[in-house]
Amino acid sequence: MTQYQHVTEDMSVYRDGTIKLHGPEGFEGMRKAGRLAAEVLDELTARVEPGVTTDELDRVAREMMLDAGAVPATLGYRGYTHSCCISINHVVCHGIPSDKRLKDGDIVNIDVTPLLDGWHGDTSRMFFVGEPALKAKKLVDVTYECLMEGIAQVRPGARLGDIGAAIQKMAERHRYGVVRDFCGHGLGRLFHDAPEVVHAARAGTGPELKAGMFMTIEPMINLGRPHVKLLNDGWTAVTRDKSLSAQFEHSIGITEDGAEIFTTSPKGLHKPPY
Ligand code: MF3
Ligand code: CO
Ligand code: CO
Repeated sequence: MTQYQHVTEDMSVYRDGTIKLHGPEGFEGMRKAGRLAAEVLDELTARVEPGVTTDELDRVAREMMLDAGAVPATLGYRGYTHSCCISINHVVCHGIPSDKRLKDGDIVNIDVTPLLDGWHGDTSRMFFVGEPALKAKKLVDVTYECLMEGIAQVRPGARLGDIGAAIQKMAERHRYGVVRDFCGHGLGRLFHDAPEVVHAARAGTGPELKAGMFMTIEPMINLGRPHVKLLNDGWTAVTRDKSLSAQFEHSIGITEDGAEIFTTSPKGLHKPPY
């Protein structure tokens, strides 16, 4: 049986498998962290162009977070040494910034998680480098719709599985593969907390959603089959069949009548083309 925990802010630092229910202070903290996360992606948007290295984008992301009084939550996380993840083309997630240069036609995900005043804002978007192929652009567009369809299911009384069911339905209508190996997650004072938000599920299953829960929804959708493999660096996940993969991520809080998105772009840069 799923358990819930009503928390004071102090108690909420423990990962104990329960789904935490947050109050107004939590929402206030998440709004600030989420806004900063979205601002970092807004700032990176103009810099995503052919020839730029992913190290350079990582540097800009790091400096912007530090300047805002935040810390990149990925820095030192389980031995990860960068301030964001940058996943190009067939990389599904957790691509490591390097001296590799973006090139015309690439589709790229950048995922940032500032930790600001004790709260995590976790968001990612896709970017076009120059002019990608039509099939790549369509994958990106449908992946954004998958995220927003998932969020549209969120309200008190719905079930966690309703989110994945909506995402899976949208993706499979286009014959795309929904990645099963990585999930969205609860977050707040912790980066990764209960519940696991799966992106393929049966409607009406799983724990009941309640006002005060915080979670990410972050579907990874492949042009081909859903299967992934991990590269030898221990982080980079790629599609087994080398097909293109896309992902968008928002951090949300459940309100009395739906979802509040903490990581909406202040500049309206929701999906490419920007
Ligand atoms: N931001 C990722 C997520 O959405 C996690 C990245 S962990 C890292 O959950 F160590 F790979 F950076
Ligand atoms: Co996340
Ligand atoms: Co993320």
